[in-house]
Amino acid sequence: MIELAPSILNSNLANLEESVAKICKADWLHLDIMDGHFVPNMTFGPMFVTAIRQISTLPIESHLMVDKPEFFIPLYAKEGSSRIIVHAETSNHLHRLIQQIKECGCQAGLALNPATPLHCIEYLLPILDLVLLMTVNPGFGGQKLIPEMIPKIKSLREMIQSGGYSCKIEVDGGVNWENARTLIDAGVNVIVAGTLIYHDPHPEAAIVRLKNL
Ligand code: DX5
Ligand code: ZN
Repeated sequence: MIELAPSILNSNLANLEESVAKICKADWLHLDIMDGHFVPNMTFGPMFVTAIRQISTLPIESHLMVDKPEFFIPLYAKEGSSRIIVHAETSNHLHRLIQQIKECGCQAGLALNPATPLHCIEYLLPILDLVLLMTVNPGFGGQKLIPEMIPKIKSLREMIQSGGYSCKIEVDGGVNWENARTLIDAGVNVIVAGTLIYHDPHPEAAIVRLKNL
């Protein structure tokens, strides 16, 4: 069964309670944290995790698209993130960063931008709970999936299988009804979907349909 982590980035943030209620059948709530430096956009601070936890029972995965993630990890952990995903491009000390996430009691995810090669995470696979392969250039919802990422998913699946690791593969950006099956067949376990869910006239039904693909 695929795990689904809807992103609320493109939801109606003016009515957060209603937007969060629409995805109550999902497995995770994907929170896109952007600092305006690592990516050309700015979104939610740690207090937003507190607010979401008051209106949703979904576990929150905080996707930190930020420089200096070592500063932010404790803040997002303290406010109640269940999983924290940092970008491989934002630190020279990735092993220490993953250890820091785990010491904060959260599941540890590592995200790779489209151009970042898989070999930089080879020695982290044994300690990672999840690898997030960006299927768009990070910063905005509603973009088109980069098709060259399909072989990257397959290569990562082979790396994980040959090493006997339990690390999950998540994709993020541009997932739609045309490409979702291809992504799952390539080896994806967790899907982030924002526009697909929130632009659907029946988001709850879209979530059930996507989970059962
Ligand atoms: C982009 C974010 C994604 C995005 C997904 O930087 O990391 O989570 O919100 O958006 P869709 O599913 O709309 O492409
Ligand atoms: Zn994201």
